[in-house]
Formats: sequence, C-alpha cells, structure tokens
Amino acid sequence: MRSLSGGDPAERPRFGPVEELLPFPLEFEPNRLLAFLDDGLSDRRRAALTARLREWEPRLPVAVEIVPGGEVAKSIDAWRQRALICRDRGIDRRSLLLAIGGGALCDGVGFTAATWHRGVPWCALPTTLLAMADAGIGGKTALDLEALKNPIGAFWSPEAIGIDPSFLESLPARELRSGWAEMIKAAWIGDAALFEQWEATPPSASGSVSDLLRAPTREELERVVEVKLKIVECDPRESGPRRVLNLGHTLGHAIEALESVEAPRRTHGEAVAVGMAFAARHAVARDPSNRHPLRLLRLLDACGFETAGPTTDFDALLSLVRSDKKCDGDAVTFALPVEPGRVDLVSTPLSALRDTLRSGAVPHPPR
Ligand SMILES: NC(=O)c1ccc[n+]([C@@H]2O[C@H](COP(=O)([O-])OP(=O)(O)OC[C@H]3O[C@@H](n4cnc5c(N)ncnc54)[C@H](O)[C@@H]3O)[C@@H](O)[C@H]2O)c1
Ligand SMILES: [Zn+2]
Repeated sequence: MRSLSGGDPAERPRFGPVEELLPFPLEFEPNRLLAFLDDGLSDRRRAALTARLREWEPRLPVAVEIVPGGEVAKSIDAWRQRALICRDRGIDRRSLLLAIGGGALCDGVGFTAATWHRGVPWCALPTTLLAMADAGIGGKTALDLEALKNPIGAFWSPEAIGIDPSFLESLPARELRSGWAEMIKAAWIGDAALFEQWEATPPSASGSVSDLLRAPTREELERVVEVKLKIVECDPRESGPRRVLNLGHTLGHAIEALESVEAPRRTHGEAVAVGMAFAARHAVARDPSNRHPLRLLRLLDACGFETAGPTTDFDALLSLVRSDKKCDGDAVTFALPVEPGRVDLVSTPLSALRDTLRSGAVPHPPR
C-alpha cells in the first residue's frame, strides 16, 4: 500500500534511454495517466514522447499536456491550470501523473500530485542536469509565492524516477552549467574524491579552465545522486542533517527572490554558485586558519561561475534571508563548507552574514 507521503523519498532513479524507461509508470497499474511535458523540450522530442505515451492507450486512457517549463511552472496560476487539467481528465487517486521536464516543472507537477485529491501518485523524468542531479530526487515539491522561492510545498515523493542523460544534448550551455552548481555542491558535501577529481580536471569541455562545460558522465551523475539519496534516507523530512543540502541556498534563494523583481535574472544554479562562494568566504572569515573552503571557490571559478559577492542591496537580501524557512528570528541555520566531504550546520546571526557581505576582506583564491 502507498504511504501517506507519496513514494519512497530515497527511491533510486533508473538510468537508461527514455524509450526503454518509459513503461515504468505502467508498473503502478494506474487507471489513467496524465503526462505534463516541458515546453522547453524540442518539437522532435515532444512528438516522440507523445507518440510513445499514446502507445499505451489501449491499456489505459493517456493524456499528454505540453505546459510552460521554467520557474513559471511553480506559480500558483500554473498550479491552478494543472489542477483544472486534472479535473477535466478525471484524475483520481488511482491515476498517475508524470512530469517530464526541468526542475521547476518537476517541483510544480509534484506539488500538483501532492495536493490533488490530497495526494495522487506521480513519476518524474527529469530533463535538465539540475533536475537529474538534485531537483528530481528526494521528494520535495514546491511552488513560489510572488518573489519568495518555495514557501509553499509538500514532501511528496515520486513513485519512480527515470534518468535519460541524452536529454542533456539539447540543453543550452547556460542550463548545463547551472546543473553543475548542484553537482559540485553534492560532491563537496558527500563525495570528496569526486570533488578532487574535478579539482584536478575541471569539467570543462576542454578539460582546462573554460567557459563551456561538458555533460557529466553517467558515473558522475550516479555518484552525485547517491550523495543526495544517502542524506535523504537519514532525514526524509529535513528535520536536521538534510539541511547540509542547503549549501549555497540561503543566499542563493535570497538572490533569486531579489532578482525576480529586478532583471536580469540568474538561473537557480548560478544563484546557488554565488551563494556557495559566499558560504566559502564566510567560512574563511570565521576560521582564517582553514583554507579548504577556498577550494570550493576555485572550482566554481574554474567552471566559469560568477563568484564575486553580491553587490546588491544587503539589507534587502538579509530581509529575504530572514523570511527563509531555515531562519529563526535573527539567526539562520547556515550550511558552512569546511572541507571536501564536510559541511557543518551552524546557527549564524544575520549580523555575521552582513559582516561577510560587507567585507571584501577575504582574498580571491589564486588560480
Ligand atoms: N525539489 C528539490 O529538491 C529541488 C532541488 C534543487 C532545485 N529545485 C528547483 O529546480 C528549479 C530549477 O530547475 P532547472 O535548473 O532544471 O530549471 P528549469 O526547470 O527552470 O529549466 C530551465 C529551462 O530548460 C528548459 N528545458 C528543460 N529540459 C530541457 C531540455 N532537455 N533541453 C532544452 N531545454 C530544456 C525549461 O523549459 C526551462 O526553460 C528551481 O525552481 C529550484 O528551486 C528543486
Ligand atoms: Zn538547489
């Protein structure tokens, strides 16, 4: 029987070509299937997916809806649209939703699954690097509220996750880099050997410092997913240890929120990279004898991320940090990078973050 919180949050994704993966939703014997496809996928991809899904028609009713991907998929209006589609397609608790798209679409469809009829099962086929490495895994679903990132959400895991790295072939270079931010985060948190491998040879297309990043190998992707699964397994509801996954996100989310009203916007990964660089600077400011955090800055630099501290309005940023879920009054649980394989969770007064934001004191690491 299904649990009341969706599927297993530590469900291992299956890897393979989408044509081979796709029958997986049928294993759950739904009475009907409603697939939401990210409109960022190419026409060719969408047509092939639709044709494949329609092959199941004799066995069950299949509906395929192409919906806007990107952050807009996490708006309340997009949620309302999906709920209306669920109503019109007769989705009930024995039906299955399928999200095929980026992290935002997976978050949004996951939240639709969590809330429609108080929870219907769903499966995810993440199609961006960031979604394969992070967003599609672990069962957190969310919507944004105006400028605030993810204040509305539910823990509602997909029944199954399929990863076909060939989706990355159509991903714009900027989105690929964005995904590398979460890859680097995961390696720093839980796979020091992988981090060191990238330190020695940055994942740029040429193997040296470069603007273009390569797609990860399947092994790299699997190792990063493993880091997240291990953490989620220990703390599925983020009551404590899972918060290490927020490395770079305290400031990253605040930057995203601030920029949603001020163009131009950064991608999620770009904002998290600035947040991780800030976290590294803050770690060195707290303990100047530990230079390891500078290694995180250096790898982000080598991958072409912007690592300079934000120069925008510090007060506005900190007031957004204050409204973060991880904030308790004037202190925030801050994920502090200590060394590869180690992140400490430290209750940090906002005033201390302000000091680091203000000071340009921490030297930029030499290449
Ligand atoms: N639930 C979680 O645990 C978790 C973890 C990390 C991030 N997130 C969320 O994930 C979101 C970011 O996800 P993202 O980086 O995937 O961005 P995204 O979903 O916004 O996708 C980026 C762009 O790529 C397009 N796209 C999707 N697949 C494509 C493909 N194969 N080829 C070409 N274009 C494609 C999308 O339409 C969109 O325009 C944020 O909202 C973030 O909060 C959630
Ligand atoms: Zn993230």
